[in-house]
This record gives sequence, C-alpha cells and structure tokens, in this order.
Amino acid sequence: MLHFDLDTPLIEIQGKLQNDIWTIRHAVEGVQIFGGIGSGKSSGSGRFLALKYLRAGFGGLVLTVKPDEREEWIKYCRLVNRIHDLVVISSQNDNFFNFLDYETERNSGGQLTENLVDVLKTVIRAGSEKSHGKSEDPFWENALDMLLFNVIDLCQLAYGKISVRRMYDIVQSIPRLQEDSSRAANKDNTRAYEKAFDKVDVLVRSKLEKWETQNAARLRGIDDRDIYDEIASADVPEYRQMKYLKQFFEDTYIPLSEKTRSIVEFSFSGFLFRLLRDPVYKLFCSNPSNIRPEDCLNGKIILLDLPVKLYDKVGRDAQIMFKYIWQRAMERRDPNNGTRPVFLWADEAQNFLHEHDADYQATARSSRICTVYITQNLPNYYGNMGGQKGEFKVKSFLGTLNTKIFHANSDIETNNYASSLFGDHLMEKISKGSSIGLGNISKSSNTSAEYERAIRPERFISLKTGSPRNQNVVEGFIQRQGEPFANGSNFIKMQFSQNYSP
Ligand SMILES: Nc1ncnc2c1ncn2[C@@H]1O[C@H](COP(=O)(O)OP(=O)(O)O)[C@@H](O)[C@H]1O
Ligand SMILES: [Mg+2]
Repeated sequence: MLHFDLDTPLIEIQGKLQNDIWTIRHAVEGVQIFGGIGSGKSSGSGRFLALKYLRAGFGGLVLTVKPDEREEWIKYCRLVNRIHDLVVISSQNDNFFNFLDYETERNSGGQLTENLVDVLKTVIRAGSEKSHGKSEDPFWENALDMLLFNVIDLCQLAYGKISVRRMYDIVQSIPRLQEDSSRAANKDNTRAYEKAFDKVDVLVRSKLEKWETQNAARLRGIDDRDIYDEIASADVPEYRQMKYLKQFFEDTYIPLSEKTRSIVEFSFSGFLFRLLRDPVYKLFCSNPSNIRPEDCLNGKIILLDLPVKLYDKVGRDAQIMFKYIWQRAMERRDPNNGTRPVFLWADEAQNFLHEHDADYQATARSSRICTVYITQNLPNYYGNMGGQKGEFKVKSFLGTLNTKIFHANSDIETNNYASSLFGDHLMEKISKGSSIGLGNISKSSNTSAEYERAIRPERFISLKTGSPRNQNVVEGFIQRQGEPFANGSNFIKMQFSQNYSP
C-alpha cells in the first residue's frame, strides 16, 4: 500500500550553495508553466514534471490539444512502468464514460436536475465565452439555465430517464409564436415536445385518479376547481411539476423575443448536437461506463484522446465536461495524509478553462489535486476567462497556482508579470561626478543603494529552448509564492534536459 506524505520530495532543485526540495505539498498547490511557442514547455519542464508525478504513483487526468500527446504519454508511462495504469478514452478504444448514468446513479430527483444543469451550463458557457462573449448578457444566462432545467425535468418526468437525443429533439420542437412553415411538418422529432407532454399527461392523469380514489372521503363535496387544484398540487408531485413545466414553456419560453430565444436555442442545441456525434456519443452518452473519475484515486491515468486540434469544439466540449465532472468527484473525497494525489494535466490549458476553475483551484490543495496548466502567455487566458474583466480574474486565478515556471517568451505582458512576481532587489549604484572649481577639477564618487527588478523582463527573451542546438537544455525560472528557496529569493533558474530519464 503506497503512502503519500505531503513532505515526500519530488524534485531536487540544484542551488549554488544548497539544494532545494520541492515536495508533494508543492505539487498539490498547483503549477503553471508559461513559455512562447517552441520554448520547451512540453518537452522540458512539462515532460519532467509528468515523469516525476507518474513515478511517484499519482493518478491523473490528461486533457489533450495536439494529436501527438497520446503517444507522448504512452512513452512517459512506459519509462516509469505505469503503462498498465493508463486508460485512453478515444475513438479507437472501448473505454466508455456515460455521464448521464453516472450522475443518475449519484443523485435522485431534484438533485439530479440541479447537478446536470450545473455540468451542462458550465460546458456551454465555457464554449460561448470563447466565441462571442455572450455570457456578458445576464438575461441570456438565465434563459439558458431555465431552459436546461425544464428540458431535463420534462424528459425525466415523461420518460423516467434523461437522454441526450430526447433533450435535443425536445428543444428542437418547442413551438414558436409564429410557426415557420419551412419546418418539416411530419418529421418524427418535430413533435418530440408535444409527445413528451402527452406522456406527462397520461402519467399525471393516472396519478390523480389513484390519488382521488385514495382520498375519496376528503374530496367529497369539493366542487370548486381551484380548491381541488390546490390540494391536488400539494399531494401529487407529478401534477405540480407538470404545472410548472407548462407554465415555463407556455408563459416564459415560447413568448421570448426571437433574438434571445435563438441565442439560447443555438447554444443548447449546438452543444447537444455535438454530443450526439461519434465518437463523443459512443464514448460519453450511449455505452455503459467502464471507466469513472474515481478510478484515478486508485492510480489510473485517464487520457482524453480527443485532441482539440483534430476535433475542435466537439473535443473541447467533451473534455471540459469530463474535467468538470472529474473535479467535482475529486472534491467529494475526504483525503488524509496518506491519500494518493491526482494530477489534472492540461497542455495548451487555455482551451479547457471554465467559470468554476478558480473556485476549484482554491480548494485543490485540500483535495490533493496537482494541477499543471501549460500555456504560452497571459493574454491566452484572458479571452477564456471573464471576457473584459479577464485580466483581474486571470491574475487572481494564477495566484492559486503556487509554483510558476517561466520559459523563453517574447510576450511583453507575461515577461512583465514574471518580473514583477520575482520582485526587486537592492542594487548598489556608483555615480561619478566631477565639478570644476577655481582652477582645479575635483572628482567625486558616490555609492547609493537603489531597488531594481531582480530579473528584468528582457531576460526571458534569451532563455535556452532545448533542441540539439542547445544540447537539449531548456531553461526556465521557477517561482514559488510564500516560501523562499535556499538562496533566499522566491525564484531560481533551472535547467531541464529534454532527455531526462528518471
Ligand atoms: N525530444 C526532443 N529532443 C530534442 N528537441 C526537441 C524534443 N522535443 C522537442 N524538441 C525541440 O525543442 C524545442 C521546444 O519544443 P517544445 O517543448 O515542443 O516547445 P513548447 O511546448 O514550448 O512549444 C523545439 O525547438 C522542438 O523542436
Ligand atoms: Mg507544447
């Protein structure tokens, strides 16, 4: 049985006088790696950390953007003898995770709807933030949440089970105020909304009949429709729910302005449509699960091989969805000092941010999640986090990733950010002066101390970026908040070999 003490050393950082030890405690406090394209993020510090985490026995989740990431991780796992723990979810494998089944098993009733709404809206909003910044409009968000909520409830009430296909068909067939005659009239799914309500009607009628028989004595003499309605709604939950559903669709949703409605419908249906296509449908929506987020707690490494570069939005949606469900699962456990850490790995991490990331990151330490996010620069994150208020949000989010590694970069904003994080140090300045007096020249020199940036922003431009022309050496500054290195400062220069072998 492996035991994971927080003080277990993972990395020894070579110092001039004394070495520093970077431990599991630092890993669970999160890592952010910055560097320009080709600076050595993936093959230098990224690969190095991955091998350290794997070797230490961590479980983990790997999200992918580039098609070659799967092969790289297979190599990493082979190098440290973890290949038996690697589970690849891809079109070529039969590893399935059915998210609806998973959420249904965990929740009942209203809790299920709420949790599903939370998952789905987080993914939908993460996508929309990137493309249009629509989420700035609070009305749009509310309408989307309510639609999600009611479609899930309608599906559940009518069929006793939620399915992506049914949700999609229902959303597509909700009547409009002015019916568009071009919509195919007799296609099966154009009536899905009506059919669902027909089912609900049948169900509610039978529930009411049963209830009336059981309460015959109590109901005798009540002939006021409103009073009957009140008692029936209080006693028969399905009846009450049906009334809420009708109210939402007929009084709120159908009368929405065409513009708002089309934005909401487009986002929701667009998302569901992407889920309905293979391989995402077969991997996450239709087959029974044989892999679950909790498997990482036993050391599994789940790699989602739906690289965004190949699968675009479909790959991003599916991965953000899995990531969020995974984060929630990891948060539910109650770790003690021996519990196995799990890593959350995202190279080109800007693709996978969602609105709850900052909150989850803030508690990652106590749930022993070792986040490693890799991206080129700060502006990469702005667009994916908070739109116009991006900068503030991103910086406070980065504050929750305690160790940062900065590689060669030409982005001024990131270099300035790094330089300011590293802080100032006292520099002795010698100023020479001369004054001409009466007939003679006197020279004077003054020493004064002045604060200067410990590392100026330009220094990051010339760091080594690996490849044979640098003898495969990648340079980077590692910075740690709150806990100085042995040299007394909060940063230290490190070298990573692209040939590192544990
Ligand atoms: N295994 C390797 N051995 C030697 N050079 C490599 C290796 N992998 C990548 N490179 C080269 O090293 C540099 C950094 O690559 P990479 O780590 O992919 O950069 P980044 O992830 O920062 O974009 C590039 O010039 C790349 O061609
Ligand atoms: Mg890379």
